[in-house]
Amino acid sequence: MRQFNRYTVTSALPYANGPLHIGHLAGAYLSADIFVRFMRLTGKDVIYICGSDEHGAAITLRAAKEGTTPQAIVDKYHELFQRTFEDMGISFDIYHRTSATIHHETSQDFFRNLHAKGEFQEKESEQYYDAEAKQFLADRYIKGTCPKCNYEEAYGDQCENCGSALSPTELINPTSTVSGATPELRKTTHWYLPLDKYETWLREWITTGKVDGKELHDPESWKKHVLGQCKSWLDSGLQPRSMTRDLDWGVDVPQEIEGADGKKLYVWMDAPIGYISATKEWAAQKGKDWKTYWQDEDSSLIHFIGKDNIVFHCLIFPAILKAHGDYVLPTNVPANQFMNLEGRKISTSKNWAVWVHEYVEDFPGRQDELRYCMVRNMPEQKDSEFTWKGFQDCNNNELVNNLANFVNRVVVLTNKYYDGVVPSFDESLDIIGPIDVDEAAYHDSECLRLFDDLDAYCDYLRKYDFRGALKTLMEISTRGNQILQNNEPWKTIKTDEESVKVVMNLALQYVAALRIAIRPFMPFTSDKMTKLLEMPQLKEDGELNEMLMTLAEGELIIPAGQQIGKPIHLFSRITDEVIQEQVDKLQSSDVQEEETAPVNPLKAEIQFDDFTKLDIRTATIIEAEKVKKANKLLKLELDLGFEKRTVVSGIAAHYTPEEVIGKQVSLLANLAPRKIRGVESQGMILMAENSEGKLCFVNPDETFENGAGVA
Ligand code: MF3
Ligand code: ZN
Repeated sequence: MRQFNRYTVTSALPYANGPLHIGHLAGAYLSADIFVRFMRLTGKDVIYICGSDEHGAAITLRAAKEGTTPQAIVDKYHELFQRTFEDMGISFDIYHRTSATIHHETSQDFFRNLHAKGEFQEKESEQYYDAEAKQFLADRYIKGTCPKCNYEEAYGDQCENCGSALSPTELINPTSTVSGATPELRKTTHWYLPLDKYETWLREWITTGKVDGKELHDPESWKKHVLGQCKSWLDSGLQPRSMTRDLDWGVDVPQEIEGADGKKLYVWMDAPIGYISATKEWAAQKGKDWKTYWQDEDSSLIHFIGKDNIVFHCLIFPAILKAHGDYVLPTNVPANQFMNLEGRKISTSKNWAVWVHEYVEDFPGRQDELRYCMVRNMPEQKDSEFTWKGFQDCNNNELVNNLANFVNRVVVLTNKYYDGVVPSFDESLDIIGPIDVDEAAYHDSECLRLFDDLDAYCDYLRKYDFRGALKTLMEISTRGNQILQNNEPWKTIKTDEESVKVVMNLALQYVAALRIAIRPFMPFTSDKMTKLLEMPQLKEDGELNEMLMTLAEGELIIPAGQQIGKPIHLFSRITDEVIQEQVDKLQSSDVQEEETAPVNPLKAEIQFDDFTKLDIRTATIIEAEKVKKANKLLKLELDLGFEKRTVVSGIAAHYTPEEVIGKQVSLLANLAPRKIRGVESQGMILMAENSEGKLCFVNPDETFENGAGVA
């Protein structure tokens, strides 16, 4: 794989229209942060770029929904994003925003450049116009019936029920979401990027890595699902794509261009250029040259994104960059797939999400625990799942029991035996290491093994296999624990002080190595370990490489004689109660959308005789109480007029005992009695149940005498 000296790394600019959830983090931010921290630790020149995406229909729709202005929306979320990313230790070199003047200028310059080169095709077409609101309607502003599945709430660009991509004119009975009016078609002119004309070079570039015979990237190093998606777009044929819109929120089409009035840049034209404007801003602040990061062939451009952004970063933005001509193309786009949550798709509109800023509030000082668990479940090759139980297991079984335990034991013993000073050892003794002896000296060979493991760890990181790298890291910690376990210094200290020094010195080397190697994944813990070992702060400036060199030369990472600090716990257990609280919070905030709920199919046909076997009677609930240790059940006393009955009913999740007393219901009265939780239930109350499992009583529509037959 080609190595570069300089890396320009980007994370997708998040739309400033709602808070960040763990799916965002797992998709485009955490992976990029790990990668850049790793690259810095190996001494590369890296910039890490991001910012808020403040244009597009997503913003204006949100503003309309909240009854405020787009500016107020983007200000609010930009500020929240900045704070949340910082809290989570995402180490951008700059977090910019697309409302900045420098961004408007930069994206307009791009447009001018392509326009002057004659790259755009100007085309007139008919688009929906809302005569009441006096505006053209972006795809998302039009709703109607999906021609494929008849779903009535489909958007102009997509049906969320059946997933089909649509164009607004395909919708049946279109309406404007702005005014509710029926839109009319009007002629409008836009500038199109002729993607069809670029198809040949795009295909070659994607599949072989070459453009005009020059090797720009290695497709072997690209993720399979990314290549797969690109090929399927290419195979279905690229269409010219409009780079402008009739909108009033966004970057103006440069006014000197004829027909620019009222036109804005398409958000997917301006947003990726946001990476460049952010770099310009950063370079101006630092006194650097932004161009080297975008135009020098020795700069590797890498886009971290979620899979829904693949076509924009692998086809459309590269086409824009190449049409301009001065820019490098991305060398990789290591997109992640989606992270699901407790068995369902994360959804902002249904409030099925773990919001990152809320996590930070609920788990103060525990950012690394979330980072760790996210990586363990990172959707690198396929969709993955986050569960609170899994989070607890990661924390308790891996961080507490393995990593924190190892570090703690080493620090405790060093303090106990050597007053916290790293012991020196007699190298001639090293050969007769107590266990794991082979030809090589024990200390030496374990350090060599450490080197090999770290080397493997680096390989994983270079391949964007963050789960693999983290696993290797935890194996180093496991190995550290084994070193202690196998040698039992707490026993040998009484008989063989000299060999305990070998073991303890070795264990300290492992801790010192972990301090650096965990940094990309858990920067806060790395800082804690640095303090604990009283070592110099990490500047993320080649320290990992230096450490590998030290190890390769057979030298110590943490020198003998170094004073270390007092033991602390790096991680602590998370209890069942804390986890249950989060599960409850998630369940209670869930807003289900009824219209998407599937219909319950009808049961098999029956005859009238089958029906007449049922004896259904009206009855009134006169007493109700919870059934002990069965949180779904209520025990009910029913008055049937001619007798009383006891019935156990599974409605406790929907009704309290107080709520049901006095209610009249329909009772299946000739059902054979059966024991439920030790109580004999004499009949069954008829309930209606919808597809979400919500229940309600089926009862007479006015108070009626009890015991009447229902048929
Ligand atoms: N805002 C887009 C999203 O959240 C991502 C934009 S990425 C950029 O899906 F390249 F356009 F900046
Ligand atoms: Zn549909």
